[in-house]
Amino acid sequence: MLNDIPTTKVARAARFAKTGFNVGTNYIKHYAKKAVGAESTTADLHAANAAELYGTLSEMKGSVLKVAQMLAMEKNMLPTAYADQFAKAQYSTPPLSGPLVVKAFRDAFGKSPYQLFDEFEPEARQAASIGQVHFARKDGKELAVKVQYPGVADSIKSDIRLVKPIALRVMGLSEAQVRPYLEEVETRLLEETDYALELRRGQEIAARCQGLGNLEFPAYYPEYSTARILTMDWLTGRHLKEFLATNPSPEVRNQLGQALWDFYQFQFNTLHQLHADPHPGNFLMRADNGGTLGVLDFGCVKVVPQEVYQLFTALLAAETIADETRLAALLTQAGVLRATDAPAMRKLYLRTMQTSLELVGRPFHQATFDFGDPTYMAALYALGDDLMADPELRKQREPRGSEHFIYLNRTYVGLFALLTELGAVIETHVPAPVTV
Ligand SMILES: Nc1ncnc2c1ncn2[C@@H]1O[C@H](COP(=O)(O)OP(=O)(O)O)[C@@H](O)[C@H]1O
Ligand SMILES: [Mg+2]
Repeated sequence: MLNDIPTTKVARAARFAKTGFNVGTNYIKHYAKKAVGAESTTADLHAANAAELYGTLSEMKGSVLKVAQMLAMEKNMLPTAYADQFAKAQYSTPPLSGPLVVKAFRDAFGKSPYQLFDEFEPEARQAASIGQVHFARKDGKELAVKVQYPGVADSIKSDIRLVKPIALRVMGLSEAQVRPYLEEVETRLLEETDYALELRRGQEIAARCQGLGNLEFPAYYPEYSTARILTMDWLTGRHLKEFLATNPSPEVRNQLGQALWDFYQFQFNTLHQLHADPHPGNFLMRADNGGTLGVLDFGCVKVVPQEVYQLFTALLAAETIADETRLAALLTQAGVLRATDAPAMRKLYLRTMQTSLELVGRPFHQATFDFGDPTYMAALYALGDDLMADPELRKQREPRGSEHFIYLNRTYVGLFALLTELGAVIETHVPAPVTV
């Protein structure tokens, strides 16, 4: 219940101070054990830290939980222990009590949800990362009403301030080295607390995707929505895991996978903005109506500047990977290579990027791609582990490359992971519809 969530700044700060301390303690134990020659692997250390961080994060809810979700998805960027712990964050949050939900409505509309709707279920049907989703009815329509936890938007900035030093310490980085990346993530997180923005983006992207097949978008209701409450149509369908448990045919799986692929390619290539949170909670799958994919949650949208679009596309092109001069020029433009790099370092980066781009670009380089082959996604995750384990790259701690690539990478890795789980064979070169 809400009482268990530390809401005051002091309580939150206290939780974080505790985690910072325990993470430090785990490191000390690790090195102490090493000093006496006892067995303490780096995996042990990561597991202990991850468990401690997760314990704190799940009590903090809100923005921090969102960071945890994001880290869980970027599995290839994290040691496995962290990813496993953070993955737990996805569906486990305590609900907001009935009276607090009513209060949120009174504050927003001056009315209770029972006055506003014909019917309103006081128990949430689904947890959201910074809120919860209720079922309601109005004028015969079934509605989903997402109610944000009170105080989340206000506390997100101080949460980030608290998490930052701990995260930097765990990763061994300085603030200056990661400033553009943190700013990019902070901006997206703050946007996510603005349900009015989510409503506008959901409406706009849905309208522009009308020409695409087998997709379902909810209509949004501005008259029952505010910055903290979002009302839309209730969509039927199942999350990926439950959908797969119904044994859908390969044809349906391919059809839904294709709808998902076309949706992302159209957004990237034509709209130059993307639903940047392709995790299983945000799609509802159906086979009973011939096979459609319901798309939810436009809380995280990445707008792709024109020059970033061109750079990303050029980097993934098959010709680029084969042409070292062109690759070097593009990587310099992207901030991965620097004029001051020693020749050995430059070579290492080039080789690493060649391998990475070939792998990430592979689905785009052939007419059809079988995501049902699990070795592809395994190779993608293994690449992440290899990069982190490379002793030369590890010495070069500071991250490089355009901050715009954070959400682009996340989106494509997330998309590929969904398609792999769906086991879909995708026609990757389908042209976009002309009507926008
Ligand atoms: N329109 C809807 N119809 C049916 N279920 C929904 C709808 N919107 C949200 N949900 C359910 O609530 C969950 C959380 O909603 P979501 O918008 O993804 O929240 P968050 O922004 O916190 O991720 C979804 O995974 C889904 O199960
Ligand atoms: Mg979601």
